[in-house]
Amino acid sequence: MKISVSLLGALASVVAGHGLVTDFWINGKHQQGFLLDYYYAKKNGGAVPAIAAWYAENLDIGFVAPSEYGTAAINCHKNASPGALTATVPAGGEVAFYWEAANKQPWPHAQGPILSYLAACDGDCSRADPTKLAWVKIAAAGIDYDTQTWASEDLIANNNTWTTKVPTGIAPGNYVFRHEIIALHAAGSANGAQNYPQCFNIQITGSGTAKPSGTLGTALYTADHPGILFNPYQTIMSYDMPGPSMFTG
Ligand SMILES: *[C@@H]1O[C@H](CO)[C@@H](O)[C@H](O)[C@H]1NC(C)=O
Repeated sequence: MKISVSLLGALASVVAGHGLVTDFWINGKHQQGFLLDYYYAKKNGGAVPAIAAWYAENLDIGFVAPSEYGTAAINCHKNASPGALTATVPAGGEVAFYWEAANKQPWPHAQGPILSYLAACDGDCSRADPTKLAWVKIAAAGIDYDTQTWASEDLIANNNTWTTKVPTGIAPGNYVFRHEIIALHAAGSANGAQNYPQCFNIQITGSGTAKPSGTLGTALYTADHPGILFNPYQTIMSYDMPGPSMFTG
């Protein structure tokens, strides 16, 4: 079969746009993330392996745009569905997320915050409906004003890995973790921010009692929020973190 050069070029540009968490670690123990191979397997009639990471079709240009903040895609990315399994972390433990761009390239966007949320599942998270999940922000890192270093730049410097600590006070139970990079390199223009959310089923153990109320995905962000419609090409003296207030228990 002959494939035209222009088609190859088009495919290459499609692949170049995506970004996803291919691996994660719970207190240092490796867990399988979602791979594009699984998307292609499903497309070809095969099965997606049983993993705790969610399936998503973040294939086109790879991100959720502000114009899609009112859609289900803002929860766990496009056409997302839960992983079949659930990983386990004790409250106070650490979850590390390894991000990859196309073909094992490092994360390409050095400007923007990194956020983590969790949402309690009603029962097993493998049956969760993303549009019903109420997200509680548990971590958010923006820019260091002294060094003008964004969280995304720190991630790149740390082998594309970001570590989030699970709040010690959170009640045990089944949760969906929502880990997200918001890339701001084009955010000075309307609809230019790029949200990259990724989801994982994680059971929290421990003796915490906090059950903070959360925010539906479609209410997390607005396209004209000052941290979303934001010109990063300036000396930044303040950055207004998008999303609801943070749970610090
Ligand atoms: C970065 O992390 C990936 C995924 O665990 C690993 O394969 C790679 O060896 C790491 N690279 C460095 C320089 O540590």
